[in-house]
Amino acid sequence: MTRDHLLEARHVTLAYGDRTVVEDLDLDVAPGRITAIVGPNGCGKSTLLRALARLLAPTGGQVLLDGEPLASRPTKQVARVLGLLPQSPVAPEGITVADLVGRGRHPHQRLLARWNEHDYAAVAAALEATEIADLAERSVDELSGGQRQRVWIAMALAQQTDILLLDEPTTFLDIAHQIEVLDLLAELGRERGTTIVMVLHDLGLAARYADELVAMRDGRIVASGAPGDILTPELVEEVFGIRSLVMPDPVAGRPLIIPIGRHHAR
Ligand SMILES: Nc1ncnc2c1ncn2[C@@H]1O[C@H](COP(=O)(O)OP(=O)(O)O)[C@@H](O)[C@H]1O
Ligand SMILES: [Mg+2]
Repeated sequence: MTRDHLLEARHVTLAYGDRTVVEDLDLDVAPGRITAIVGPNGCGKSTLLRALARLLAPTGGQVLLDGEPLASRPTKQVARVLGLLPQSPVAPEGITVADLVGRGRHPHQRLLARWNEHDYAAVAAALEATEIADLAERSVDELSGGQRQRVWIAMALAQQTDILLLDEPTTFLDIAHQIEVLDLLAELGRERGTTIVMVLHDLGLAARYADELVAMRDGRIVASGAPGDILTPELVEEVFGIRSLVMPDPVAGRPLIIPIGRHHAR
């Protein structure tokens, strides 16, 4: 089985109406690796992720999956390869956790086909991995923000796609659950060869977990590569407009970004 699907953006331009947000962007997603997209609010991270997931059609250029334009492939076929956790997903009213996570199995099911053992096993494993098995029968509406975020992550995991796109998967999570989710994604990559592309607003966590970092600003990729190779005070200043110190973190040796700020000027 080939799991190393190739996802590429070629000269991609993305717009909402006549407002262009991303222009002429090229990206090769590293198969089987974790790519983290970082950049200031509104720079086009979610827009890019939606285009990679086929939810937004480029107005110029193409997104290619295994060399073929994403737009020309059947939706269900794409859904079996590519899973997306959007930034602000909306759950149908009153749906239970188990039912919502179960929706992740739809791309694998034929019309009117019964649930098979793989479907049940995938849902159970996803509930387990995100530590929400005890919430299975609860209504999603009644959960805390952090619990709900884990339900969405479980739904994305239940899809068992070879490529997983996640938009700010750690939103609403406390520090322990942020690390838990990122460790889980790292394990998926290591154990199953899942290709992961995620938008992360926390530069520190991105530097810690990403194999490849993609730094965006104003709809363009400013730099991409291994965090240790590209994360410098100059890049942080160029992308986020802040002065910082960058040094190896004592745990993983990845770049640690220390913002300087106005009140601790050096
Ligand atoms: N559905 C939409 N319609 C119109 N403009 C949008 C829409 N979604 C995002 N935008 C605009 O596109 C730009 C990029 O947004 P987005 O990709 O969500 O940024 P990021 O995820 O980096 O914060 C922003 O200026 C935002 O206002
Ligand atoms: Mg966003």
